[in-house]
Amino acid sequence: MKQMDIRMITDPDQKQTIARTVLEALTDWFGVTESREEYIRLSRDWPFFAAMVQEKPAGFLCLKKTGPKTIELAVMGVLKEYQRQGTGRALFQAAREYAVKAGYEFMQVKTVQSGWYEEYDATNRFYQSLGFQELEVFPTYWDEANPCQIYIMSLKKETSAIDLIMSRHSYRGKYKPDKVPREDLKTILEAGLAAPSGCNMQTTSLIAVDDESLLKEILSVIDPPVAQTAPALICVLTEHIPAYRDKCFAVQDYAAAIENILLAALSLGYASCWYEGHITDDDRICDRIAEILNVRKDYEVVCILPIGKAETEPVPPKKKTFAERAWFNGFQTDSQ
Ligand SMILES: Cc1cc2nc3c(=O)[nH]c(=O)nc-3n(C[C@H](O)[C@H](O)[C@H](O)COP(=O)(O)O)c2cc1C
Repeated sequence: MKQMDIRMITDPDQKQTIARTVLEALTDWFGVTESREEYIRLSRDWPFFAAMVQEKPAGFLCLKKTGPKTIELAVMGVLKEYQRQGTGRALFQAAREYAVKAGYEFMQVKTVQSGWYEEYDATNRFYQSLGFQELEVFPTYWDEANPCQIYIMSLKKETSAIDLIMSRHSYRGKYKPDKVPREDLKTILEAGLAAPSGCNMQTTSLIAVDDESLLKEILSVIDPPVAQTAPALICVLTEHIPAYRDKCFAVQDYAAAIENILLAALSLGYASCWYEGHITDDDRICDRIAEILNVRKDYEVVCILPIGKAETEPVPPKKKTFAERAWFNGFQTDSQ
């Protein structure tokens, strides 16, 4: 196969010429003159990707914004001699990359439902192979002989649990003023409560603070100041409940809850830092925070976790090497 390259085309006249060349050669799909001309005309204003072979178009794809976070694969065509060679897939990859970078979260595409025409059955199989999922069929959207199948695809990158864990760092910079929605705070709190606890004693409790004046009051007692721009805070409380005999796992319990909170916050796009040493030192800032929050005397505030969108990137700390801290089948030292 001759060398093909995928380009984003910005010149409206060039877009229109490419769209015309391709669509007029694909009358099995674009046989209705008015709708073909409509696509050609509209393609001038849409994000446009072309597959070029020796400066001649082999295919193209256009995207159309349909909402603040949604975009449609509005039209695509590949000349018959370039079909089944990865051209459509390459065009789609370029378009998808563009849509993800531009912040879109879902892509839709419409075609004629499977089971009516051979050409469109192939189109359906192609979209499914790209990862599109059947959303709904609208039987009369175009006309009764062409039931409209809408496909949908999420563009949100799935971050693996391992990637999330590895990318967590303590953030001590400024926060953006954006409020943290209650539903996000609730999700983060639930993640904290889902942590394991010794003998399931559930010794950790949590208070989320998003009220501006309360937040100000709490931050004003923290000296030296930290997290002063955070739009929300989670205060971690612990209770002394023995698990068995005199054994209480409260510290382990809240440590597990805090790590869950840090990871849940990160997965929702928020930064944080585990502030414990800072508030539990001899000056007992934690007790002053407990007072402000009316915390019952049998609970103790042990940590605060700011939650908010970071203005800058966290600075990853230097960590010891894997070989210094982890081994297989027994303890090892350098000399071994
Ligand atoms: C028990 C505990 C107490 C901590 N207290 C504070 C604190 O008071 N102030 C602070 O800036 N960071 C505090 N941290 C965060 C650590 O400094 C941080 O986790 C460590 O430097 C490693 O950096 P990383 O979180 O980016 O991996 C605390 C962490 C833990 C586990």
